[in-house]
Amino acid sequence: RKALGREVVPHTTRLPPPRVSSCCSVLRRPWSVRPQAQLRCYSSAAVCSSPIPEITSKFPEITSYDELYKFSVNQPDAFWGALGEQLLQWQRPFSTVTQHDLSTSTFSWFHDGTLNAAVNCVDRHAEHHPDRVALIWEKDEPGTEQRITYRELQSEVEKVAGVLQQCGVKKGDRVAIYLPVSPIAVATMLACARIGAVHSVVFAGFSASALASRIRDAGAKVVVTADSSKRGGRVIELQKVTREAVALCQDIEYVLVAQHSGAPLQLGHKELDLQQAMASITGSAPPSEQGGEDPLFLLYTSGSTGQPKGLVHTTAGYLLYTAITHRLVFDYQPGDVFGCVADIGWITGHSYVVYGPLMNGATTVLFESSPIYPDPGRYWETVQRLRITQFYGAPTALRLLLRYGDEFVKKYDRSSLRVLGSVGEPINPEAWRWYHEVVGDRRCTVVDTWWQSETGGIMLSPRPSAPDAPVKEAHPMRPMLGMTPLLCDAEGHQLHDVEASGALCIAGVWPGIARTIHGDHKRYQDTYFSPYPGFYFSGDGAMRDSEGNYHITGRMDDVINVTGHRLGTAEVEDVMMEHVDVSETAVVGCPHPVKGETVFAFVVLKEQVSSSIEDISKQLRADVKKHIASYAVPEFLLVTRGLPKTRSGKVMRRLLRQIAKGDHDDLGDISTLADPSVVSDILDKFLKMK
Ligand code: WTA
Repeated sequence: RKALGREVVPHTTRLPPPRVSSCCSVLRRPWSVRPQAQLRCYSSAAVCSSPIPEITSKFPEITSYDELYKFSVNQPDAFWGALGEQLLQWQRPFSTVTQHDLSTSTFSWFHDGTLNAAVNCVDRHAEHHPDRVALIWEKDEPGTEQRITYRELQSEVEKVAGVLQQCGVKKGDRVAIYLPVSPIAVATMLACARIGAVHSVVFAGFSASALASRIRDAGAKVVVTADSSKRGGRVIELQKVTREAVALCQDIEYVLVAQHSGAPLQLGHKELDLQQAMASITGSAPPSEQGGEDPLFLLYTSGSTGQPKGLVHTTAGYLLYTAITHRLVFDYQPGDVFGCVADIGWITGHSYVVYGPLMNGATTVLFESSPIYPDPGRYWETVQRLRITQFYGAPTALRLLLRYGDEFVKKYDRSSLRVLGSVGEPINPEAWRWYHEVVGDRRCTVVDTWWQSETGGIMLSPRPSAPDAPVKEAHPMRPMLGMTPLLCDAEGHQLHDVEASGALCIAGVWPGIARTIHGDHKRYQDTYFSPYPGFYFSGDGAMRDSEGNYHITGRMDDVINVTGHRLGTAEVEDVMMEHVDVSETAVVGCPHPVKGETVFAFVVLKEQVSSSIEDISKQLRADVKKHIASYAVPEFLLVTRGLPKTRSGKVMRRLLRQIAKGDHDDLGDISTLADPSVVSDILDKFLKMK
């Protein structure tokens, strides 16, 4: 925990109230100073009254939700075993539910059963409800949506699978996917699953070099992309970026290019026309028989070091966990139109655009556009046109939209909505209330859902966990069934008082957890299981109120959250350190009223530099965009003569975060710094910068 260099006390409680005189007051999190007691609670009508008939029919002695929760955590084999039997379609049934060894951080679920994810998500529904709509592709231009039935999706999946096989892709091989949110992206993910290949979807906003490093780390030989895509009216040149990336990856043998723009494809070296290749596929090979623990996909996510982690999710446990959380958290009912507006490049897109909804045979929306295109009413116009029943999005978009006023919401009919979900970052009470009162007309259940790429699915959420309790605003509240969250202090001791604040950990095991980091199990152990032995450590801090409701206070490590995108500050530092004129850098997150956090970089230049500070700053920003993505570009970049370091040479990040926040009146004890005078230099420059 020392290595993490963080105090456990959540930083949000230590902030003084905003001061108008502060040069950085607009950047304070307005919600961080609100006393908990002022938060309101809301009752709601949409509650799943009989959460899991699969369990209660088998165990009739369970008659209340509390009993169900206790059963789920005390008898995980019985609980998850009953669900595994009934929610998954097996080729060979499992005999072992779970095996785990905390000393080696190895977990397995249903390992001796065999199944296929594509069969579970598509084929079985295509057999019983071939004409049910699986995907509604909400393209960039409003009113141009396309519907794809389960039968059509099955045929697409089979064809892409055939093409991948022709390219020599076999069971266990990794396939990189660099595609916009679209049916071909979903079909490609499921085609990999059908033949037992492991997909690695890379967010289509990442740069060529970020794509290349993920392709290389995964050892992919095939990458699937599109000629270009459009978002918010802006063209994104995916094929061009992929070419640049492939030039850096010797092992890529084929680039499959889907035609997305409507213009004829221009094909180059190693590139094949995906749709043309699909047209030549006749018949389909039987789906691969996968073990419960065979990997389903890799997903790269940011951590405390510069190198993103390729989390490995496996088949049976992940499918089961996303299916049950999708159904219970959102009160999913047959006939619903589920609208999660996340990009498939992130875990939310994997779990709640693709796998969870398709496991449940739902109709899921693929949202390819932007919340403000063509105007800030886009989400709600889409809700009206598609009759969306559950809407799931990120607080950063809500904070942006509420600034445009209520008219953009109210002019559309939102009566189809029942549940509104929030994910990816803390939601502030103001945004929560706007969501509940304006978007949901005080009628819908708002679920603030806390979870992570590592957890596979939702871990804390007001539903189904507290079916009778009113929803407490801006709180994910309680654990999902089978889940035991807890808080620890800085010494690693569990905090037993109900009211407490500390490091958010999880005891026990759950089927959705990522099993390892691709090629680096030690990093997996060190990151998640060493800091608090015996528990999974999330990296987040949390507070628990007297009723046992959790509230997330933010990351305790060097990960920040910019517009809902998770970013390791070390990734940005690594890029800037490559610049010839840079001697040292430290990057921190700084509160931002819309983005949640924004990137603040402190840079120390070498004695002799090649150009002006302005030019170097421009180059550094361009480098970050080129090597990572636009959202990672430092909004603030401060060139200073030194960084505040302790005598042992450790950068005091706490201080930099405080300065970046504009919270510099009381910087605490800086006497342990090797050279305290650098602090006044930084402050001086900071005040001039504003
Ligand atoms: C943050 C996204 C507060 C948290 C699903 C976590 C949240 C990180 C919430 C994971 C929430 C996610 N309230 N913070 N409801 N949901 N986070 O891997 O810091 O992209 O550790 O997964 O987002 O981000 P990731």
